[in-house]
Amino acid sequence: MTRKTDSSAGGSGKLWGGRFTGATDPTVERFSASIHFDQALARYDIRGSIAHAKMLGQTGLIPAGDAETLVAGLQAIGAEIEAGEFPFDPALEDIHMNIEARLSEAVGSVAGRLHTGRSRNDQVATDLALYLRDACEAAQKGILDLRAILLERATEHIDTVLPGYTHLQRAQPVRLAHHWLAFFELLGRDAQRFRDAGRRLGECPLGAGAIAGSTLPLDRESTAKALGFESPTRNSMDSVSARDGALEVMSAAAICMVGLSRLAEELVIWSSSEFGFVELADAYSTGSSLMPQKKNPDVPEIVRGKSGRVVGNLVSLLTTLKGLPLSYNRDMQEDKEPLFDSVATLRDCLEVMAGSIATLRVDVERMATAAQDPMLLATDLAEALVREGVPFREAHEAVGRIVAHCVGGGHDLASLSRETLQGFHAAFTAGCDELLDAERSFAQRDLPGATARNRVEAALEAGRAEIAAVSAQLDVGSEP
Ligand code: ARG
Repeated sequence: MTRKTDSSAGGSGKLWGGRFTGATDPTVERFSASIHFDQALARYDIRGSIAHAKMLGQTGLIPAGDAETLVAGLQAIGAEIEAGEFPFDPALEDIHMNIEARLSEAVGSVAGRLHTGRSRNDQVATDLALYLRDACEAAQKGILDLRAILLERATEHIDTVLPGYTHLQRAQPVRLAHHWLAFFELLGRDAQRFRDAGRRLGECPLGAGAIAGSTLPLDRESTAKALGFESPTRNSMDSVSARDGALEVMSAAAICMVGLSRLAEELVIWSSSEFGFVELADAYSTGSSLMPQKKNPDVPEIVRGKSGRVVGNLVSLLTTLKGLPLSYNRDMQEDKEPLFDSVATLRDCLEVMAGSIATLRVDVERMATAAQDPMLLATDLAEALVREGVPFREAHEAVGRIVAHCVGGGHDLASLSRETLQGFHAAFTAGCDELLDAERSFAQRDLPGATARNRVEAALEAGRAEIAAVSAQLDVGSEP
């Protein structure tokens, strides 16, 4: 193993200053470097530094001309980063020091004024808050796109009927529109979670310094405003030690991924030969390298699989934070990889799920045939008795005996006459031909949130209004 014996301070180009006489061991340098992942924060770091430099100039903490030099230098570095031309250097540890060192190269000793009244602790917290706010907005947009597709496909399938399942056993007939609108609702709450998390990130940590603020008269209000925050954070120690904003985003991502995983699981089951309810488009499935007949639902399977790692990312950061005393601890550098991974994974999964659903072929006949099982209307039979004044438990018992009679004796429930039914309960006033009519059954489910056509139509209408309102609020389509 090679060890640096060079005893000159800052041998590796770092900015530790006069306290150090020896250089960092190369292994430690590699071990502690975060630049290979925190470069994702580059644009936020530049924005934060520009706001800070301007404020230093405005308050007279540094000469106005120097502030201008710093801002111009930072803007040039920002352009270099966007163009993919920035020479990220692992020896400079993290994104903050990479940018500051580059600024030194660009503008000379004036660069030494940028870190006035600032620590990497409030700097990284500010970068993260800016990143998280963007991530919340991007997640809301991704969810919105998937919800819009679900709504479109639901509208198309208002009259497609399939069995609804509980315990993966056929329960009662539902409209496919109603089924997909269930996911529309779930995803709506996911979007709200991201909106709420974003709102809680409205305070700017910049100016909190390393832990206790600064002796210098920094204008925290002005940097907060310049960066789009509502106000500065209210406690300097909380500012540099809190990572619950990241936890919230990761937890919203994990919850959303678990929902996507359930939707994915249904696509996997429904596309099996046993169900045959749907077929994924060629663009969203793959073949087998061995078995020529196979068409595999890899895309939903991978979504289902990825939900595990997004859950794991959340647990990872929760565990990292759990034993930490106030305030900043270097352990917290471990927040970034799981966070970035959760944000990127969710973005990709939302996109491929939207594509899978948009291009899915639905076998309306297969669904209808499965939904024709008269047993799915057994509850309706019990409710017919309730309408005649029979207590529900008594009705349930009678219909249970009817079902047992059919299953045991090989009789078809749908063809039982009024007389046969009356043999089980005297209150029956009609036969199954009349009582077990699927159309009538749907029409009777006329309650808020139920499956009658008019109720589902109203839900689709409300869904369209919601999509329009959320699109306007998120300003979808107005971006460069
Ligand atoms: N790379 C560090 C992180 O991500 C930045 C803050 C470093 N602060 C410090 N005192 N070493 O947490």
